[in-house]
Amino acid sequence: MHVLGIESSCDETGVALVETVDDGLPRLAAHALHSQIAMHQAYGGVVPELASRDHIRRVLPLTEAVFEEAGRRLSDVDVVAYTRGPGLAGALLVGAGVACALGAALDKPVLGVHHLEGHLLSPFLSADPPEFPFVALLVSGGHTQLMRVDGIGRYALLGETIDDAAGEAFDKSAKLMGLPYPGGPWLAKLAEQGDAEAFKLPRPLLHSGNLDFSFAGLKTAVLTQAKKLGDQLEARKPDLAASTQAAIVEVLLKKSLAAIEQTGLDRFVVAGGVGANRVLRQQLDAACARRGVRVHYPELHLCTDNGAMIAMAAAMRLQAGVQAPTGHYAFDVRPR
Ligand code: KG4
Ligand code: ZN
Repeated sequence: MHVLGIESSCDETGVALVETVDDGLPRLAAHALHSQIAMHQAYGGVVPELASRDHIRRVLPLTEAVFEEAGRRLSDVDVVAYTRGPGLAGALLVGAGVACALGAALDKPVLGVHHLEGHLLSPFLSADPPEFPFVALLVSGGHTQLMRVDGIGRYALLGETIDDAAGEAFDKSAKLMGLPYPGGPWLAKLAEQGDAEAFKLPRPLLHSGNLDFSFAGLKTAVLTQAKKLGDQLEARKPDLAASTQAAIVEVLLKKSLAAIEQTGLDRFVVAGGVGANRVLRQQLDAACARRGVRVHYPELHLCTDNGAMIAMAAAMRLQAGVQAPTGHYAFDVRPR
């Protein structure tokens, strides 16, 4: 079976083809990605209308590139999958529109996929795929969640952010320091030259006794600290970046360990853009190794949004017996 996946929820256009053979883990045949980051950088964030227009420009050339690389033809496709949400409505509609048009033209079923399920299952594309059950930390620009995952579609939410996501905390703090969009990787880079203990920043909800997160207060604390530094801010930026990163990472780490303890599971999966953070990976690896817990990550280039995770999630759902609707080509998106 060949599943084509299309991702267009935010500022990356991703297209991918995965192949399944019987019950084996689906295999990535090819994927192509175009990031709009450079285009949005001038505005300090994603401009939804520009995002939609660029998805329209990119999606068909990327699709052609995928078939070229995979040595396959459009007629080989058995199911077309796309990101149904959450995301920007106009951006989602581009992927949904193309997927539905292809489905109608090929007379093949079309399956809408939850963007977070894509992130969640992206480690199955790595050379060291996890096995169910596991605890998952989903950390992206829009979400921060801890989940117990027992199988495809068997996801129990253990805790989540009550305000900003971890990626948002990185991005908003980075913006306050004058770093480009999206600030997470820039802040992480700057932090390499800084002292993580230079500034005392809050660790919200660290001792709340549950698995929820809160990051909105951190951004305010970073702003207060930046104002206090005044003329010295420029020279102290690496220290402020390192201290900010340390605060975010400590909360993610402690809550993850609490989730592992609570569930008694010995496998842990990290997915989503913030999962690319090196310090987070180092600390999780060390802490999990001490507890005999195995940690799985997506490959670095598949941490942020991409089409491969959408095709993979669709293929795994189909293998688990989910039916993709046929003959029904409504543009169905769920921005929230
Ligand atoms: O998963 P993703 O591509 O998009 C959403 O679904 O939100 O995640 C993007 C987020 C951004 O907030 C970005 O700053 C953050 O992931 N990010 C990082 C790193 N790389 C990406 N944050 C911290 N350190 C990184 N190395
Ligand atoms: Zn994402």
